[in-house]
Order: sequence, then C-alpha cells, then structure tokens
Amino acid sequence: MLRAIGSKKDLELLPFYDLISDLLEHETVQSLKQFRHHVQTTRFQHSLNVAYYNYIFCSRFGWDARAAARAGMLHDLFFYNRKEYVRKSGEAFHSKRHPQMACSEASRLFTLSTREKDIILKHMWPMTPTRLPRYKESMVIVLTDKYCAMLEVVIPLFRKLFRRCSSASK
Ligand SMILES: [Fe+2]
Ligand SMILES: [Fe+2]
Repeated sequence: MLRAIGSKKDLELLPFYDLISDLLEHETVQSLKQFRHHVQTTRFQHSLNVAYYNYIFCSRFGWDARAAARAGMLHDLFFYNRKEYVRKSGEAFHSKRHPQMACSEASRLFTLSTREKDIILKHMWPMTPTRLPRYKESMVIVLTDKYCAMLEVVIPLFRKLFRRCSSASK
C-alpha cells in the first residue's frame, strides 16, 4: 500500500496514482528507495509525498495537477548520498545543482512538458535566485517540498518521543 506522509489514504486507489504509475514503476525511480532523504525517509517516499501534496493543492485550485504530480515525483532524481556530497562540496552546491541534475535525468527517461521542467528546475527557489518560478505549479512545489521535509523530520521524532514516554510510564 502506498501512502503519503500525514495521510491515511491508499494512494493506489486514487486518480492521482494513474497520473504517475508509469514513473513509479520505472526502475530508475524505484532505485530512489536506496537513498535516505531527510533522516528517516527514502528519496522515493519523499518524492511521492511531494507529488501527492502538489497534486492535492493544484487540483483544489484547478491548476495543472498532472504536471505538478509528475514533476513532484521526479524533482529529486539524483543518485548520490546527500550527506556525503554536502560534506565534500557544501550544502550550497547541492541545493543549486541537484534541480538541474534531476531535470536532465528525468528528461532523458521521460517526455517532460515545459511546465514540468520548470517545476523541477525551480523547486529549490529562493536557493536558486536566478531561477524564478515561471508557473503557479512551480511556486507550489517550493512550498510542498519544505512542508514534506518538515513532516518527514518531525513525525518520526514525535513517534520516538511518544514511544519513550509510553515505555517510561509502564
Ligand atoms: Fe530537492
Ligand atoms: Fe525535495
């Protein structure tokens, strides 16, 4: 069962799933499961979380939810351990470089629209100040990416604290 962080819904039963199922089944996208992202989660799960919240937000406002979901799933398509990279070259380089890397890799594997490319390339704005988001959907991912990162760090932390408190009270 596929789920997004903070949601109890089975994503495979939603129209959302049909929009990105070809991406989810691709072996390169599947390989994102090997990489940790934001401490406790995998890069695959983080991408799925962002894709889902992009979709929810853009559907609600009648924007391009398909492009938002697909670009969300591909926005962090890079294949190195982030911590090791940051240790060697610095966080600024990673923040600025990986949107371009993800967009190149995603364009090599899938046919992307101009809007989807923009969503991927601009998702780290304002860390990439010269790349101003051109579409509403590109602005949405700037927010959902941070929102998901916050949930991915905070929820496991709260679970850990809750487990510690409940075992201490026994
Ligand atoms: Fe990213
Ligand atoms: Fe991300």
